[in-house]
Amino acid sequence: MNGKFPQNFLWGGATAANQVEGAWDEEGKGPSIVDAIPGGKQRLTIVSSPEFDFSLDPQRFTYPNHKGIDHYHRFKQDIALFAEMGFKCYRFSIAWTRIYPNGVEETPNEAGLAHYQQVIDECLAYGIEPVITLSHYEMPLKLATEYGGWKNRALVAFFERFARTVLERFGDKVKYWMTFNEINSAAHFPIMSQGLIVNSGALEPQAKFQAWHNQFVASSTAVKIAREVNPQIQMGCMILYATTYAWDCHPINQLTALQSQQAFNLYCTDVQAGGKYPYYAKSLWKKLGVELSIEPGDLALIADYTVDYIGFSYYMSTTLNETNPDVDSAQGNLLGGVRNPFLEASEWGWEIDPVGLRIALNQLYDRYQKPLFIVENGLGAIDKPDENNYIADDYRINYLRKHIEAMAEAIDDGVELMGYTPWGCIDLVSMSTGEMSKRYGFIYVDLDDNIAGSGNRYKKKSFSWYQQVIASNGADL
Ligand code: BG6
Repeated sequence: MNGKFPQNFLWGGATAANQVEGAWDEEGKGPSIVDAIPGGKQRLTIVSSPEFDFSLDPQRFTYPNHKGIDHYHRFKQDIALFAEMGFKCYRFSIAWTRIYPNGVEETPNEAGLAHYQQVIDECLAYGIEPVITLSHYEMPLKLATEYGGWKNRALVAFFERFARTVLERFGDKVKYWMTFNEINSAAHFPIMSQGLIVNSGALEPQAKFQAWHNQFVASSTAVKIAREVNPQIQMGCMILYATTYAWDCHPINQLTALQSQQAFNLYCTDVQAGGKYPYYAKSLWKKLGVELSIEPGDLALIADYTVDYIGFSYYMSTTLNETNPDVDSAQGNLLGGVRNPFLEASEWGWEIDPVGLRIALNQLYDRYQKPLFIVENGLGAIDKPDENNYIADDYRINYLRKHIEAMAEAIDDGVELMGYTPWGCIDLVSMSTGEMSKRYGFIYVDLDDNIAGSGNRYKKKSFSWYQQVIASNGADL
């Protein structure tokens, strides 16, 4: 490996409020959409049914996000462990519902602000830069069930109030922010991402594209507020990037891969980083029967307030075979596609592809020439502690090592990479399945899928490995 990581490279880890905090109804917090989603492998399928009722029903369901890993109360212990690993940054999100419990209040919940003030100060005391996602797969439940989610323009003003509150309160201390987590993922799971439940259009392109438009306006508004509050702030977008391959050199398969690349990987970033709707947008809207409602001033705002960097998650690639789509489908790959015979998959069917990360970095940098930040990457696996609660997670180390090597190679290629925050640096509740047993962390949390257990934290083998990676600035892998 020749690539050298820059001296100020942001090594760290990432979590999201709804997946770690718990304390779902404490100190004034209101219910978020994910608080109404039960756990279980089929959770995304269950909530995608038109019959699913988002009123909370603890008699019928368990809601693992309600307890999370109790990071809300244990954040000091957890951040101390991150500091021991040498983290330069910690990516976490602010739960909108801690600040505006139902999204519509005029004044914020001071207890929620006080909590994040403490988290931020705790990070800074260790020299860890907070990297804050404004909205990570949760929004006030009321905004989804009563307002119909992001397709409703009213959400722009609600979000603006939330973003202004936290940026004004914390903008002098926190330099790195992101607007919407994996904004493009709404193509596949719009419920958590856009608060579009099935009855309000989760399956309709019109609703999704209008929701995206409103989110683009909200995102540029947040960039504008950030510039006013503190010009030092770096505001990023955040997308789910899945390097996309054509199955073979059949021109139809190549064309399909190109169009999927545009419609899925690049559509949102083209707007948020590029500052305008891309040339292919009109034909895409026409094909899907979408007619956007764009208000005067929207396009100018989008053009004037683009993001400073591109944050993205990378877990897997996807392979498309339009000429024979039913052959060997890639079961478990959240994005569908066919099985790639050159790749191995995780226990959840996510195809492991470090070279795909190098390709992703080059494709994104080539297109936008803006700094990139890998804000999620990692291997979800079942960990089996020994009698001393130790986990020799060499499989995780191997996964991360290969991806870090790919990053170094991309840096050699000339890509500008700001940092790396592996996902679920401490075990947390899975987004797609609500399980605890799908673990990503360097730190084991003793809780099962019902969130029963001691909640104790134990260092895995990968803990000391990542410590050494950071100490050597990526040289000692
Ligand atoms: C990303 C999300 O899609 O992937 C995270 O931003 C999520 O919230 C992560 O947890 C891993 O997915 P999962 O389903 O394994 O938790």
